[in-house]
Amino acid sequence: MTDQPIPVIIDCDTGVDDALALLLAVRHPGLDLRAVTCVAGNTGVDGVVRNTLTVLEVAGAGDVPVARGAERPLIEAARSSTVHGVDGMGDIDGLPAPTRTAADVDAVTLLRREILASPRPVTLIPTAPLTNIALLLRTHPEVTRNIERIVFMGGAVAVGNATPVAEFNVWHDPEAAAILLTAGVPITMYGLDVFQRVVVPGADVRRLRASAEPGARLAGELLAHRPSAPEPDGDELAGGLGDAGAVCAVADPAGLTTRLLPVEVSLAPGPTRGQTIVDRRPRPGESELHGGTTREQALVDVALDVDVKRYVQLYLETVEGAWARP
Ligand code: BDR
Ligand code: CA
Repeated sequence: MTDQPIPVIIDCDTGVDDALALLLAVRHPGLDLRAVTCVAGNTGVDGVVRNTLTVLEVAGAGDVPVARGAERPLIEAARSSTVHGVDGMGDIDGLPAPTRTAADVDAVTLLRREILASPRPVTLIPTAPLTNIALLLRTHPEVTRNIERIVFMGGAVAVGNATPVAEFNVWHDPEAAAILLTAGVPITMYGLDVFQRVVVPGADVRRLRASAEPGARLAGELLAHRPSAPEPDGDELAGGLGDAGAVCAVADPAGLTTRLLPVEVSLAPGPTRGQTIVDRRPRPGESELHGGTTREQALVDVALDVDVKRYVQLYLETVEGAWARP
Protein backbone atom coordinates (compact mmCIF):
# COMPACT_ATOMS: atom_id res chain seq x y z
CA MET A 1 0.00 0.00 0.00
CA THR A 2 1.12 3.54 -0.70
CA ASP A 3 -0.51 6.79 0.21
CA GLN A 4 0.95 8.54 -2.78
CA PRO A 5 -1.75 9.80 -5.16
CA ILE A 6 -2.77 7.46 -7.98
CA PRO A 7 -1.57 8.74 -11.37
CA VAL A 8 -4.62 8.99 -13.64
CA ILE A 9 -5.40 10.11 -17.19
CA ILE A 10 -8.94 10.89 -18.30
CA ASP A 11 -10.02 10.41 -21.91
CA CYS A 12 -13.30 12.29 -22.32
CA ASP A 13 -15.91 13.89 -24.57
CA THR A 14 -16.78 16.83 -22.28
CA GLY A 15 -19.79 16.61 -21.91
CA VAL A 16 -21.75 17.69 -18.82
CA ASP A 17 -20.89 14.63 -16.74
CA ASP A 18 -17.33 14.40 -18.11
CA ALA A 19 -16.95 17.93 -16.69
CA LEU A 20 -18.17 16.64 -13.31
CA ALA A 21 -15.56 13.87 -13.57
CA LEU A 22 -12.77 16.37 -14.33
CA LEU A 23 -13.72 18.55 -11.36
CA LEU A 24 -13.48 15.54 -9.06
CA ALA A 25 -10.18 14.28 -10.50
CA VAL A 26 -8.54 17.69 -10.16
CA ARG A 27 -9.64 18.16 -6.57
CA HIS A 28 -9.28 14.68 -5.08
CA PRO A 29 -6.05 14.51 -3.03
CA GLY A 30 -5.70 10.78 -3.73
CA LEU A 31 -5.53 11.34 -7.51
CA ASP A 32 -2.79 12.86 -9.62
CA LEU A 33 -4.37 13.97 -12.91
CA ARG A 34 -1.48 13.84 -15.37
CA ALA A 35 -3.25 14.56 -18.67
CA VAL A 36 -6.64 14.77 -20.34
CA THR A 37 -7.31 13.61 -23.88
CA CYS A 38 -10.35 14.49 -25.96
CA VAL A 39 -12.44 12.53 -28.43
CA ALA A 40 -15.60 13.20 -30.42
CA GLY A 41 -18.73 11.98 -28.69
CA ASN A 42 -21.12 14.23 -26.83
CA THR A 43 -20.04 17.00 -29.19
CA GLY A 44 -17.43 17.50 -31.94
CA VAL A 45 -13.83 17.08 -30.85
CA ASP A 46 -12.98 20.80 -31.08
CA GLY A 47 -15.88 21.58 -28.77
CA VAL A 48 -14.70 18.84 -26.43
CA VAL A 49 -11.23 20.41 -26.29
CA ARG A 50 -12.67 23.86 -25.57
CA ASN A 51 -15.00 22.54 -22.86
CA THR A 52 -12.22 20.51 -21.25
CA LEU A 53 -9.82 23.47 -21.11
CA THR A 54 -12.53 25.65 -19.59
CA VAL A 55 -13.42 23.11 -16.89
CA LEU A 56 -9.77 22.56 -15.94
CA GLU A 57 -9.26 26.30 -15.59
CA VAL A 58 -12.36 26.77 -13.45
CA ALA A 59 -11.29 23.79 -11.34
CA GLY A 60 -7.88 25.37 -10.79
CA ALA A 61 -5.83 22.95 -12.88
CA GLY A 62 -4.89 25.11 -15.80
CA ASP A 63 -1.55 23.39 -16.37
CA VAL A 64 -2.74 19.79 -16.91
CA PRO A 65 -1.91 18.96 -20.56
CA VAL A 66 -4.91 18.49 -22.85
CA ALA A 67 -4.75 16.98 -26.35
CA ARG A 68 -7.17 16.72 -29.25
CA GLY A 69 -7.91 13.19 -30.44
CA ALA A 70 -10.11 11.36 -32.90
CA GLU A 71 -12.81 13.35 -34.64
CA ARG A 72 -14.83 10.29 -35.64
CA PRO A 73 -15.17 6.62 -34.72
CA LEU A 74 -12.85 4.00 -36.27
CA ILE A 75 -15.33 2.85 -38.89
CA GLU A 76 -18.54 4.80 -38.74
CA ALA A 77 -19.17 8.39 -39.67
CA ALA A 78 -19.12 11.17 -37.07
CA ARG A 79 -22.46 11.61 -35.36
CA SER A 80 -23.73 14.80 -33.87
CA SER A 81 -25.58 14.80 -30.57
CA THR A 82 -27.39 17.56 -28.70
CA VAL A 83 -28.13 15.51 -25.59
CA HIS A 84 -25.60 17.70 -23.74
CA GLY A 85 -26.83 20.93 -25.36
CA VAL A 86 -25.52 22.72 -28.43
CA ASP A 87 -22.13 23.39 -26.79
CA GLY A 88 -21.86 19.94 -25.15
CA MET A 89 -21.91 21.58 -21.70
CA GLY A 90 -25.63 21.98 -21.19
CA ASP A 91 -25.58 25.53 -22.68
CA ILE A 92 -24.85 26.93 -19.22
CA ASP A 93 -24.85 30.74 -19.13
CA GLY A 94 -21.62 32.61 -18.51
CA LEU A 95 -19.07 29.83 -19.05
CA PRO A 96 -15.70 31.52 -19.63
CA ALA A 97 -13.75 30.79 -22.80
CA PRO A 98 -10.45 29.04 -22.07
CA THR A 99 -7.35 31.22 -21.91
CA ARG A 100 -4.94 28.53 -23.10
CA THR A 101 -4.87 26.06 -25.97
CA ALA A 102 -4.39 22.32 -26.31
CA ALA A 103 -0.97 20.69 -26.48
CA ASP A 104 0.69 20.68 -29.90
CA VAL A 105 0.60 16.87 -30.00
CA ASP A 106 -2.35 14.61 -30.73
CA ALA A 107 -4.11 12.59 -28.05
CA VAL A 108 -2.40 9.27 -28.87
CA THR A 109 1.03 10.90 -28.65
CA LEU A 110 0.21 12.60 -25.36
CA LEU A 111 -1.22 9.38 -23.91
CA ARG A 112 1.90 7.44 -24.84
CA ARG A 113 4.21 10.14 -23.51
CA GLU A 114 2.44 10.56 -20.18
CA ILE A 115 1.90 6.85 -19.58
CA LEU A 116 5.53 5.94 -20.21
CA ALA A 117 6.85 8.97 -18.29
CA SER A 118 4.87 8.22 -15.16
CA PRO A 119 7.04 6.98 -12.28
CA ARG A 120 4.20 4.63 -11.29
CA PRO A 121 1.71 2.73 -13.46
CA VAL A 122 -1.16 4.91 -14.64
CA THR A 123 -4.88 4.26 -14.26
CA LEU A 124 -6.75 5.26 -17.43
CA ILE A 125 -10.30 6.55 -17.01
CA PRO A 126 -12.08 6.74 -20.37
CA THR A 127 -15.48 8.42 -20.04
CA ALA A 128 -16.21 8.63 -23.76
CA PRO A 129 -16.25 6.59 -26.97
CA LEU A 130 -13.07 4.49 -26.94
CA THR A 131 -11.57 5.60 -30.26
CA ASN A 132 -8.46 7.27 -28.78
CA ILE A 133 -7.75 4.32 -26.52
CA ALA A 134 -8.08 1.81 -29.37
CA LEU A 135 -5.75 3.88 -31.56
CA LEU A 136 -3.26 4.07 -28.68
CA LEU A 137 -3.33 0.31 -28.06
CA ARG A 138 -2.85 -0.45 -31.75
CA THR A 139 -0.18 2.19 -32.34
CA HIS A 140 1.85 1.86 -29.14
CA PRO A 141 1.06 -1.49 -27.51
CA GLU A 142 4.10 -1.09 -25.26
CA VAL A 143 2.13 1.38 -23.12
CA THR A 144 0.36 -1.49 -21.40
CA ARG A 145 3.50 -2.16 -19.38
CA ASN A 146 2.89 1.06 -17.46
CA ILE A 147 -0.93 0.89 -17.22
CA GLU A 148 -2.19 -0.24 -13.82
CA ARG A 149 -5.75 -0.70 -15.03
CA ILE A 150 -8.47 0.87 -17.15
CA VAL A 151 -11.71 1.93 -15.48
CA PHE A 152 -14.05 2.91 -18.28
CA MET A 153 -17.55 4.33 -18.26
CA GLY A 154 -19.41 2.37 -20.85
CA GLY A 155 -21.55 -0.63 -21.54
CA ALA A 156 -24.46 -2.07 -19.64
CA VAL A 157 -25.33 -5.44 -18.19
CA ALA A 158 -29.06 -4.85 -18.45
CA VAL A 159 -30.57 -1.96 -20.39
CA GLY A 160 -28.96 0.42 -22.89
CA ASN A 161 -29.53 4.13 -23.49
CA ALA A 162 -28.40 4.82 -27.06
CA THR A 163 -30.44 1.79 -28.14
CA PRO A 164 -32.54 -0.62 -26.06
CA VAL A 165 -29.41 -2.71 -25.46
CA ALA A 166 -26.38 -0.48 -26.17
CA GLU A 167 -24.83 2.22 -24.02
CA PHE A 168 -23.75 5.42 -25.83
CA ASN A 169 -19.93 5.24 -25.45
CA VAL A 170 -19.73 1.65 -26.70
CA TRP A 171 -22.45 2.14 -29.33
CA HIS A 172 -20.66 5.21 -30.73
CA ASP A 173 -17.55 3.15 -31.59
CA PRO A 174 -18.11 -0.58 -30.97
CA GLU A 175 -14.91 -1.71 -32.71
CA ALA A 176 -12.87 0.58 -30.44
CA ALA A 177 -14.60 -0.84 -27.37
CA ALA A 178 -13.82 -4.38 -28.56
CA ILE A 179 -10.14 -3.45 -28.84
CA LEU A 180 -10.17 -1.97 -25.34
CA LEU A 181 -11.60 -5.16 -23.84
CA THR A 182 -8.67 -7.18 -25.17
CA ALA A 183 -5.99 -4.71 -24.00
CA GLY A 184 -4.42 -7.32 -21.72
CA VAL A 185 -4.58 -5.11 -18.62
CA PRO A 186 -7.13 -5.26 -15.80
CA ILE A 187 -10.35 -3.55 -16.87
CA THR A 188 -13.30 -2.34 -14.83
CA MET A 189 -16.57 -1.66 -16.64
CA TYR A 190 -18.48 1.13 -14.90
CA GLY A 191 -21.64 0.64 -16.91
CA LEU A 192 -25.13 2.11 -16.99
CA ASP A 193 -26.30 -0.29 -14.28
CA VAL A 194 -24.38 1.76 -11.68
CA PHE A 195 -23.89 5.00 -13.64
CA GLN A 196 -27.55 5.90 -13.50
CA ARG A 197 -27.94 5.28 -9.78
CA VAL A 198 -25.55 7.83 -8.28
CA VAL A 199 -27.74 10.91 -7.99
CA VAL A 200 -27.01 14.05 -5.96
CA PRO A 201 -30.13 15.25 -4.07
CA GLY A 202 -31.64 18.57 -5.14
CA ALA A 203 -30.82 20.28 -1.82
CA ASP A 204 -27.11 19.66 -2.41
CA VAL A 205 -27.36 20.84 -6.00
CA ARG A 206 -29.02 24.07 -4.80
CA ARG A 207 -26.23 24.64 -2.27
CA LEU A 208 -23.53 24.06 -4.88
CA ARG A 209 -25.19 26.47 -7.31
CA ALA A 210 -25.17 29.16 -4.64
CA SER A 211 -21.49 28.65 -3.80
CA ALA A 212 -19.12 31.60 -4.05
CA GLU A 213 -16.39 29.26 -5.28
CA PRO A 214 -16.38 28.90 -9.08
CA GLY A 215 -15.57 25.16 -9.25
CA ALA A 216 -18.28 24.15 -6.77
CA ARG A 217 -20.74 26.51 -8.48
CA LEU A 218 -19.96 24.96 -11.87
CA ALA A 219 -20.57 21.48 -10.40
CA GLY A 220 -23.99 22.70 -9.23
CA GLU A 221 -24.85 24.15 -12.64
CA LEU A 222 -23.75 20.95 -14.37
CA LEU A 223 -25.74 18.73 -12.01
CA ALA A 224 -28.82 20.87 -12.54
CA HIS A 225 -28.43 20.33 -16.28
CA ARG A 226 -27.81 16.58 -16.19
CA PRO A 227 -29.83 15.16 -19.04
CA SER A 228 -32.42 12.54 -18.14
CA ALA A 229 -31.31 12.44 -14.51
CA PRO A 230 -33.64 10.36 -12.39
CA GLU A 231 -35.65 12.55 -10.07
CA PRO A 232 -35.97 10.88 -6.68
CA ASP A 233 -39.02 12.18 -4.82
CA GLY A 234 -39.88 14.32 -7.84
CA ASP A 235 -36.96 16.64 -7.06
CA GLU A 236 -36.28 18.17 -10.43
CA LEU A 237 -32.90 19.62 -9.45
CA ALA A 238 -31.42 16.27 -8.40
CA GLY A 239 -28.61 15.41 -10.79
CA GLY A 240 -26.70 12.25 -11.63
CA LEU A 241 -22.91 12.17 -11.22
CA GLY A 242 -22.69 10.13 -14.44
CA ASP A 243 -19.08 9.82 -15.62
CA ALA A 244 -17.82 11.20 -12.30
CA GLY A 245 -18.85 7.89 -10.75
CA ALA A 246 -16.02 6.20 -12.67
CA VAL A 247 -13.57 8.60 -11.02
CA CYS A 248 -15.14 7.78 -7.62
CA ALA A 249 -14.51 4.11 -8.43
CA VAL A 250 -10.78 4.83 -8.79
CA ALA A 251 -10.53 7.07 -5.73
CA ASP A 252 -12.62 4.73 -3.56
CA PRO A 253 -12.89 1.22 -5.07
CA ALA A 254 -14.55 -0.11 -1.92
CA GLY A 255 -17.75 1.73 -2.87
CA LEU A 256 -18.21 -0.46 -5.93
CA THR A 257 -19.17 -4.14 -6.10
CA THR A 258 -17.70 -5.86 -9.14
CA ARG A 259 -17.48 -9.39 -10.48
CA LEU A 260 -14.98 -10.79 -12.97
CA LEU A 261 -17.13 -11.86 -15.93
CA PRO A 262 -16.70 -12.56 -19.65
CA VAL A 263 -17.74 -9.55 -21.73
CA GLU A 264 -18.07 -9.24 -25.49
CA VAL A 265 -19.16 -6.31 -27.68
CA SER A 266 -21.70 -7.02 -30.40
CA LEU A 267 -20.19 -5.79 -33.67
CA ALA A 268 -23.00 -7.13 -35.83
CA PRO A 269 -25.03 -4.64 -37.83
CA GLY A 270 -28.59 -4.36 -36.62
CA PRO A 271 -30.37 -4.00 -33.32
CA THR A 272 -27.67 -5.48 -31.06
CA ARG A 273 -24.75 -3.42 -32.41
CA GLY A 274 -22.79 -1.91 -29.53
CA GLN A 275 -24.34 -4.13 -26.87
CA THR A 276 -21.97 -5.39 -24.17
CA ILE A 277 -22.90 -9.02 -23.71
CA VAL A 278 -22.01 -9.97 -20.14
CA ASP A 279 -22.04 -13.69 -19.41
CA ARG A 280 -23.52 -14.09 -15.93
CA ARG A 281 -24.40 -17.77 -16.30
CA PRO A 282 -23.23 -19.84 -13.34
CA ARG A 283 -22.08 -22.72 -15.56
CA PRO A 284 -21.44 -23.51 -19.26
CA GLY A 285 -24.59 -23.65 -21.38
CA GLU A 286 -25.84 -25.99 -24.08
CA SER A 287 -23.78 -24.19 -26.69
CA GLU A 288 -20.49 -24.99 -24.94
CA LEU A 289 -21.57 -28.47 -23.79
CA HIS A 290 -22.50 -29.54 -27.30
CA GLY A 291 -19.30 -28.44 -28.94
CA GLY A 292 -20.29 -24.99 -30.10
CA THR A 293 -17.29 -22.86 -30.96
CA THR A 294 -15.56 -21.63 -27.86
CA ARG A 295 -15.55 -17.89 -28.06
CA GLU A 296 -12.59 -15.90 -26.82
CA GLN A 297 -14.05 -13.47 -24.33
CA ALA A 298 -12.28 -10.90 -22.23
CA LEU A 299 -12.67 -11.17 -18.48
CA VAL A 300 -13.71 -7.81 -17.11
CA ASP A 301 -14.48 -6.55 -13.61
CA VAL A 302 -18.08 -5.58 -14.18
CA ALA A 303 -19.69 -3.12 -11.75
CA LEU A 304 -22.89 -4.67 -10.42
CA ASP A 305 -23.66 -2.50 -7.41
CA VAL A 306 -22.63 0.85 -5.98
CA ASP A 307 -22.80 2.53 -2.59
CA VAL A 308 -24.71 5.61 -3.74
CA LYS A 309 -24.51 7.62 -0.51
CA ARG A 310 -20.80 6.99 -0.22
CA TYR A 311 -20.03 8.27 -3.72
CA VAL A 312 -22.32 11.29 -3.39
CA GLN A 313 -20.59 12.19 -0.15
CA LEU A 314 -17.16 11.62 -1.68
CA TYR A 315 -18.08 13.92 -4.57
CA LEU A 316 -19.49 16.73 -2.46
CA GLU A 317 -16.71 16.68 0.12
CA THR A 318 -14.05 16.71 -2.58
CA VAL A 319 -15.47 19.30 -4.94
CA GLU A 320 -16.83 21.68 -2.32
CA GLY A 321 -13.76 21.27 -0.16
CA ALA A 322 -13.44 23.84 2.55
CA TRP A 323 -15.76 26.36 0.88
CA ALA A 324 -19.07 24.74 1.78
CA ARG A 325 -18.22 24.01 5.38
CA PRO A 326 -19.42 26.47 8.00
C1 BDR B 1 -22.22 8.25 -21.54
O1 BDR B 1 -22.66 8.96 -22.69
C2 BDR B 1 -22.46 10.34 -22.53
O2 BDR B 1 -23.63 11.03 -22.84
C3 BDR B 1 -22.06 10.56 -21.10
O3 BDR B 1 -21.08 11.59 -21.02
C4 BDR B 1 -21.52 9.24 -20.64
O4 BDR B 1 -20.12 9.12 -20.84
C5 BDR B 1 -23.41 7.56 -20.91
O5 BDR B 1 -23.97 6.65 -21.81
CA1 CA C 1 -18.81 11.09 -21.44
